[in-house]
Amino acid sequence: MNRIDTLLAAMTLEEKIGQLTMATAGYAITGPVLGGDVTDGIKAGTIGSLLNVWGAEASRTIQALAVENSRLKVPLFFGFDVVHGHRTVFPIPLAEAAAFDPVLWEETARASAEEAAADGLHMTFAPMIDIARDPRWGRIAEGPGEDPWVGARMAEAKVRGFQGADLADTTRVCATAKHFCGYGAAIAGRDYASAEISLQTLHEVYLPPFAAAVKAGVGAVMPAFHDIGGVPLTAHIPLLRDWLRGEVGFEGVLVSDYNAIAELIKHGVAGTLAEAAALALNAGVDIDMMATAYSRGLPEALERGLTDMAHIDASVRRVLGLKERLGLFDDPYARCAPRVDAEGDRARRLLARKAASRSVVLLSNPAKILPLPSRLHRLAVVGPLADSRADMRGPWSAAGLPDDPVSVVEGLRDLLPADSIAFAPGIDLMGKDLSGEEAALDLCRAAEAVVLCLGEAATMSGEANCRADPGLPGQQRAFAEKVFDLGVPVIVVLFSGRPLILPWLIERADAVLAAWFPGCEAGPAIAEVLLGLSDPGGRLPVSWPRHVGQVPLFFGARSGGRPENPEDHYTSKYMDMPNTPQFPFGHGLSYGDFALEALTVGPDEVSADGVIEVTVSLINKGGRPGLGCVFLFIHDPVASVARPLLELKGVLRAEVEAGGRCELRWSLPVADLAFLGADLTPRIEAGVIEIAVGRSADPEGLLRRSVRILTPRHQG
Ligand code: IFM
Repeated sequence: MNRIDTLLAAMTLEEKIGQLTMATAGYAITGPVLGGDVTDGIKAGTIGSLLNVWGAEASRTIQALAVENSRLKVPLFFGFDVVHGHRTVFPIPLAEAAAFDPVLWEETARASAEEAAADGLHMTFAPMIDIARDPRWGRIAEGPGEDPWVGARMAEAKVRGFQGADLADTTRVCATAKHFCGYGAAIAGRDYASAEISLQTLHEVYLPPFAAAVKAGVGAVMPAFHDIGGVPLTAHIPLLRDWLRGEVGFEGVLVSDYNAIAELIKHGVAGTLAEAAALALNAGVDIDMMATAYSRGLPEALERGLTDMAHIDASVRRVLGLKERLGLFDDPYARCAPRVDAEGDRARRLLARKAASRSVVLLSNPAKILPLPSRLHRLAVVGPLADSRADMRGPWSAAGLPDDPVSVVEGLRDLLPADSIAFAPGIDLMGKDLSGEEAALDLCRAAEAVVLCLGEAATMSGEANCRADPGLPGQQRAFAEKVFDLGVPVIVVLFSGRPLILPWLIERADAVLAAWFPGCEAGPAIAEVLLGLSDPGGRLPVSWPRHVGQVPLFFGARSGGRPENPEDHYTSKYMDMPNTPQFPFGHGLSYGDFALEALTVGPDEVSADGVIEVTVSLINKGGRPGLGCVFLFIHDPVASVARPLLELKGVLRAEVEAGGRCELRWSLPVADLAFLGADLTPRIEAGVIEIAVGRSADPEGLLRRSVRILTPRHQG
């Protein structure tokens, strides 16, 4: 018998359920602490894993409770939300998505894994790969944005970065793809609310990132809190068992969200804990996070015949299998040795700076006030976020310390003579304290230019932080209007976990930078961008609405039978504003001045197993080098199921010298054009496909060519 069979045969029911139970540590100023019940549970073998334990010493002490005190000595594993860095905090995932750079995504995950593993962790509850098209939803901050192709590339890159080739590598951690699935489609952008998603959209938009994560070998998946059409994901047999495990072949561990199994009762699909536990287990959920649903519910569920021992055994096997893959049976303390890695720390900090400058999106710069000249005599830096450190971390900042980030004013002071910078916050973030307003306005009056730092607090985005009105909180608008009224050039730096809807500000500001929550190197990265030492590298991974009434807003919509036509009343449009976003997906200015020309697409006709070659020239007509970003879309104008107006199939980035040019090339397999027919089976249909290449999803800026697909293929 192998180790897992031997253990399983030796386990009592309680011990088996223990492997399926993840408890949480509490937290004190000194670090994680365990309640007495958790300590007893570990010794009794009724807890198999923990969340929120980190720190090499803490994890060693707690691991010893299991390995040296429990009957079967099965090691624990420790999980934590290492969502965008651990000690070194990288930009929030939505910001990183703006970099459109899988190499960078993998590097930051790799660096996060190094720090997390050195802190005793075995698992991260990341990447979050929920497609999100509604900025009201607070968790849009944690994911890849609106597009499934981007989501899938980010999923693969993050899984590779966190896990590497072998989970036994003690500098890596097991990734958890979450939240499976359609969580970003919560009705009205309210966290935990139901989602209503057509099967077509589910399979074409929300599931591809999860398929990609599984293909990349992700070790764990977390079902989402919500329900789709009344079936909570925690108990969703068609999606968890049939699609994820059956169709896609996921063999890893399904770990519930926090208390989500017990919440099946509140959902209204279970009357008791036993019924809730049976529903989740039967759907294949292996681990009950932070609850006693399995420990209290499963014994009764077995007695009542709601589930059976085979389901329990299968889940225990998967959990033990993960522990084996992590190398825990060979050395349970392998990730518990404190490591000093000053060189690594420096490298991660530099990586955080690069990631931040690649994430910052220059939304507008009409009179080209940016980059600022380095010989400014007087720059006023004002606004409630100008000297904030803690907020730069954004939500889920893991073990990143609040004081660790560098603020914008600190970053600027490092690059400019100290006496050229005048700083005053003006007002506080929520606008309760306006006492400093006049002093800040005086500084602005006396300045050559103003850097106005506005936005949300980090605590206003992320889980449960939804906003019906995603604008500037507190008195920030009133303050900003007063600054604009002074007539001094104003550069606005916006911090947020979502697109903020501020048409008035875009209209009045001389330049607007969307900095998101850029992480610990916020200040240096933003200062470098403001002064032109780096190009603003980000492009919008989400459409940026003009008005909250437009959401959900995304470029991959279908035409419909009556597409918007301002000349025709009976078409799909608003009476009070255009359908178009304030800024399209992919928008973002560079200090270079880019244009595209000479799009070629070949061959003219291609079979279903062929490849379409696409080339285009990216030209920098400006006087400065820049980082160009080019998107490859397709559109199928006539298909058996109406296709989106644009579907993203590739993104290329290139640094181009002033006056330089760069040839970009994609080889697009026709197989990548497959879509789901009305019967949900993949197909390639014969006929014309448009290839569209542009610097954003703005239809006006796209170069288009057509190619004909000769042979249909139905993969059903
Ligand atoms: O991983 C998270 C999840 O995203 C939301 N609920 C809590 C979990 C553990 O912290």
